[in-house]
Amino acid sequence: MSADALLATLLSRRSVSPRRQAWPGPSEAQLQQMVQAALRAPDHGRKLPWRLIEFDDSRRGELAQLFEDEKRRRTPNASAQDVERARAHATQTPAMLAFVVRPEPDAAVPEHEQWLSAGAALGNLLLAAHAMGFGAIVLSGDRCKDDILRQALGVAQGETLAGFVSIGMTASPVPPAAPIDVDRVLSTWTP
Ligand SMILES: Cc1cc2nc3c(=O)[nH]c(=O)nc-3n(C[C@H](O)[C@H](O)[C@H](O)COP(=O)(O)O)c2cc1C
Repeated sequence: MSADALLATLLSRRSVSPRRQAWPGPSEAQLQQMVQAALRAPDHGRKLPWRLIEFDDSRRGELAQLFEDEKRRRTPNASAQDVERARAHATQTPAMLAFVVRPEPDAAVPEHEQWLSAGAALGNLLLAAHAMGFGAIVLSGDRCKDDILRQALGVAQGETLAGFVSIGMTASPVPPAAPIDVDRVLSTWTP
């Protein structure tokens, strides 16, 4: 791939919400490639400070129930529509993964570096999905802090449930992102 084509892919990535996604999702081989891309993120000390939990199709109903239960715990008078929206997050996307950050104490690799590495991995995952023609998004929300849900998913103490990654075909395209002026993040040092 030419540098121009690669850059065009990088620059055109958008997050694609689950309601804009459709089947088919990535095959298991394609998902493995996306995870390989995530594993190529810079990682000081090769600590792998993150992990993914994949939810098979056969488990989506149970995940939807967990999302519904969490919604009702957090908002006892939630409307039927809100509950349905919570459930849909678990079911309306072809591929669903949880992204868990798991920094470990290490004098040589401070926690913030492990978080940066995890973020880079997540970015690579989303970019790989986009490069392969899929739409993807990561969504967190209050449910990620819910102890009962965390426990049900096997997220341990010391781990952070950072969000849920949805991946599928892009059914309705997202408009290009509004450009952001590079000067907002790039400055020249003047002593
Ligand atoms: C870890 C993480 C969690 C996120 N959680 C949410 C969320 O709960 N709700 C939301 O609207 N956007 C969330 N976002 C932002 C979207 O994923 C997305 O990046 C944003 O809508 C901007 O779209 P873009 O990626 O096309 O620029 C999250 C992003 C990250 C990195």
